Amino acid sequence: MIDSDFIKNSKLNIQNVSRETLDELQNYSLSIIRKNKEINLISSSTEKSINTRHIEDSAQTIDFINKNDVKICTDLGSGAGLPGIVLAILMKSKKPEFKVIFYEKSYHKSNFIKEISKKFKLNTEINQKNIFEQKDLRTDIIISRAFKPLPVIFEIASNNFKKFKYIILFLGKSGKEILKDASKRWKFDYEEKKSLTNDESLIVKISNLQKKMDKKVISVINQKGGVGKTTTVINLAAGLTMKGKKILVIDLDPQGNATTGLGLSNLENSELTIYSVLNGNKKISEVVQSTKFDNLNLVTSNVDLSGLEVETAGDSRRAFKLKDELASILNDSRASYDYILIDCPPSLSLLTIMALVASDELVVPLQTEFFALEGLTQLMKTIERIKSNLNPSLNIRGILLTMYDKRNKLSSEVEQEARNYFKEKVYQTVVPRNVRLSEAPSHGVPVLVYDKACPGSKSYFTFTDEFLRQDKLVESAA
Ligand SMILES: Nc1ncnc2c1ncn2[C@@H]1O[C@H](COP(=O)(O)OP(=O)(O)OP(=O)(O)O)[C@@H](O)[C@H]1O
Ligand SMILES: [Mg+2]
Repeated sequence: MIDSDFIKNSKLNIQNVSRETLDELQNYSLSIIRKNKEINLISSSTEKSINTRHIEDSAQTIDFINKNDVKICTDLGSGAGLPGIVLAILMKSKKPEFKVIFYEKSYHKSNFIKEISKKFKLNTEINQKNIFEQKDLRTDIIISRAFKPLPVIFEIASNNFKKFKYIILFLGKSGKEILKDASKRWKFDYEEKKSLTNDESLIVKISNLQKKMDKKVISVINQKGGVGKTTTVINLAAGLTMKGKKILVIDLDPQGNATTGLGLSNLENSELTIYSVLNGNKKISEVVQSTKFDNLNLVTSNVDLSGLEVETAGDSRRAFKLKDELASILNDSRASYDYILIDCPPSLSLLTIMALVASDELVVPLQTEFFALEGLTQLMKTIERIKSNLNPSLNIRGILLTMYDKRNKLSSEVEQEARNYFKEKVYQTVVPRNVRLSEAPSHGVPVLVYDKACPGSKSYFTFTDEFLRQDKLVESAA
């Protein structure tokens, strides 16, 4: 039997709680135990201590909730309705306009929350939906108990919510370490309080959450010519801006193909190109140009860039020049790009080394043809050399198979070989050989704009999604 005076006997200091409120809490906990026979709401080993382990544990967040600036609280993956139902019951008489919104994807669990909510006439909104698929949500508080690890909750807060003030979370005994670890990727303030129901646990209130963007300089690289580097840069850039990202493309190839492919000229004087930045005449911010596409800026290139290697021969720090210049953009909050994409030339020259030194990650397009993998060995060696000498954090983000011809047996053989060897590093998306991809550059637009329905475009849209998923812990931990 459950002690009907449980809240009175508890360590919690819940003031002005009426008899009616206590009865409702009591009734709710009995309902959970009854329902727990049909569906798994709480672990059966915690049934006996449901009042401390679940009801009081949830109720102790009331100090964080019962504030003037809090009217809406969103409970993520709430299961049995913990803590949302407890808070809705406690707040009912204190602040009638206070509302709890639930996201619980299980049909049976959300129905249970609905029944309880109806029974006690609670001010709630119950969504039987997957929170990961929601967009632009608004709330004052995001609260979650035993739903997902903290980094995942942070990702949901930043990706799926348009507005929230605080996040309230229950952390176990390694709570401090979890917060410290999260601070590598996130900036936030927090208040903590020791859990009253479990000495080792913490309740934290997070505010001012902001993502620290790392891993944003990405080179598209392969010393082999004509494998689809520039096509990938242009269309990934376009795809990312269509997803609301802000992109800077740097054309680091004297051929200037990314420049013309994005509608600018590679024939103008080199004052406004990457060349004058790398030879020290200009700051990079002075040569960033806008394109006809929103949120897509470009640093152009022209043939003069091919002279750089000889001209800077005496400069021992020249390999770092691009990195140093990009640092000024990365530190400038007004220029907050989500990604900087570098289009590399088809060689392992100084320009490529500069890109490798300046990059966080690499995307390697691989044409599905006979000698494709052979060239990669040399590239991998160069990458290893740069890693151990000049840029230890450099990583291959992924390998993109391009110009795939499904009628040609060789294409599928190369694909098999690449997947066997590079495993999950090879993107699932495969770019087919598609003539529309080769037509688009002469119109100075990405194929995603030129003909968005052609197979080439479809593959680059899919690739953009796959690329973006790599930066979302959400997907891997969900
Ligand atoms: N999937 C594809 N199907 C058909 N044509 C393609 C495809 N991808 C790229 N192309 C075309 O193949 C040529 C080479 O592609 P791209 O310029 O992107 O390669 P690259 O690796 O940048 O070349 P380079 O090494 O010269 O810089 C271009 O004419 C381009 O339009
Ligand atoms: Mg190119």
